[in-house]
Amino acid sequence: MKVEKLSLEQIRAQVTDCRRCELCEGRTNVVFGEGDPHARVLIIGEAPGKNEDLKGRPFVGAAGKFLDELLAHAGLAREEVFIANVLKCRPPSNRNPRSDEIEACAPYLRMQTRSINPDIIVTMGNFATQFILRTGVGITRLRGTWQTAGKFVVFPIFHPAAAIYDRSKRDVLFSDFDRIGQYVRDRIAAEQQSKQIAENGEAPATAAAFASDPE
Ligand code: URA
Repeated sequence: MKVEKLSLEQIRAQVTDCRRCELCEGRTNVVFGEGDPHARVLIIGEAPGKNEDLKGRPFVGAAGKFLDELLAHAGLAREEVFIANVLKCRPPSNRNPRSDEIEACAPYLRMQTRSINPDIIVTMGNFATQFILRTGVGITRLRGTWQTAGKFVVFPIFHPAAAIYDRSKRDVLFSDFDRIGQYVRDRIAAEQQSKQIAENGEAPATAAAFASDPE
């Protein structure tokens, strides 16, 4: 069955007044997510914290500041990716999301993913990774490995909040973001090359130079 693809604004309209689980009772704002509606990179966190709940924006606290640093390191601007969470409302006292809450909120993230249609989904931490990959395997084993979920390429990484308490995870995150940046640059280069071949019937100069190299 073909599922209808909604625009992010249509999905946002559905989420704004959501009462699918009891987290709606305690929230100040729904945190829908933000960024480029056609981003190449969809970044998924766990759930809004206190700052995010107050501002209605994802990753605006300490973990968000570190995420901004990691994005800059990868050569990506925050506006060119899309940042979302598994849960759109803050769990009380930042407790872990419950499975019934994840299930209630899941259709929104699925619709967002379909609408954005990213080249790569970056899942941060256990909740996002286990939700997207439908696995019970932990993030320590999965981080930095290339995975797939349906037609999507998935790259699990540590949650940036984990690196605030455990500094050894910082270097791992920087190196994983290097790989994310490289993946995006490679995709862009491959697309440019296909376009050039389609338009001119020839590969760009660099590829042509290699093609004429003697053995
Ligand atoms: N942690 C998350 O997982 N998401 C946010 O939006 C903020 C902190």
